[in-house]
Amino acid sequence: MKIILTGIKPTGVPHIGNYFGAIKPAIDSAKLHQVRADKSVNGACSAYFFIADYHALTTVKNAQELKEYIRQIACTWLACGLSPTSVVFYKQSAIPEIFELATILSNYTPKGLLNRAHAYKDITQNKAKGDEEVNMGLFNYPLLMAADILAFGTTDVPVGKDQKQHVEIAQGIARAFNAIHGEILTVPNVQIKSDVATISGLDGRKMSKSYGNQIPLFASSKELESYIKKIKTDSSLPTDPKSTDCDIFAMYKLFASKEEVKEMATKFAKGIGWGEVKKELFRVADREITPLRDMYKYFQDRPENVEEILNRGAEEARQMARTTLQMVRSAIGVI
Ligand code: TRP
Repeated sequence: MKIILTGIKPTGVPHIGNYFGAIKPAIDSAKLHQVRADKSVNGACSAYFFIADYHALTTVKNAQELKEYIRQIACTWLACGLSPTSVVFYKQSAIPEIFELATILSNYTPKGLLNRAHAYKDITQNKAKGDEEVNMGLFNYPLLMAADILAFGTTDVPVGKDQKQHVEIAQGIARAFNAIHGEILTVPNVQIKSDVATISGLDGRKMSKSYGNQIPLFASSKELESYIKKIKTDSSLPTDPKSTDCDIFAMYKLFASKEEVKEMATKFAKGIGWGEVKKELFRVADREITPLRDMYKYFQDRPENVEEILNRGAEEARQMARTTLQMVRSAIGVI
């Protein structure tokens, strides 16, 4: 049976880039797999989605802020259609087995493997006192991520390109463990979402919290409209034909129907003013986001429901993690 698992780091306010790059594809893929098909296999479900709150700790050190980000991420995923009855949805911090597994697996992880991880390498190579500035949480990030994945017998990890190396590190760690103790850990496949566009932010660079160029997913209609007005365009005149190879058109394609995209492409060829394009972009974006925004508010107003969903998810996830840990403990000889 396929077991898919993916995590999301609560480090900021969810934006449109997260929605199209991570949230929507993950939810679509869960629907595709029609999860929780077979309860007979270890009582396991086939999809695990979690909030990687201990991963966020490498950067978010303010308790109030972290709490807020966790709540926002939980409400966002639920609002965007994650069904807690077909997907196990939980907070990483609620599963102590993950951290026990990380401790065990550290002994099967060559330090050099983690030295080569991009995030760590970037800092140590580009800053004179890199190693003084890096915390061990960041250094061990791929190790904790391996434990996230391996604790559940995950077969497939759908992630963006930037996470490919991390999943490969998890594969390496699983193989190293298995080479000594037998086939205990499932070596996961990495599923790179190749059809997922990189969404550009307001300034044309990749939409990212670190660039401050994002459009928050749940901005009000009014705010959304003014964000869209800020998207960079060239100085061509309304009568000038325009290339569809631009950020605005790329974003329009994400929200619009096939027919609408075709029509817009024709208008681009003939010449259309950027103001009109933006108006039309706002219309289709707001059309898609409005129902999600309403659901987001629904969950925001019911924190106890969200808490309960996450608690139930954690209980279910722990059952699976306990089973894995039991095998691992036995394999290494502590029980
Ligand atoms: N590192 C991932 C990110 O930054 C989040 C994550 C943590 C994750 N653990 C994971 C993703 C396990 C997939 C599987 O987006």
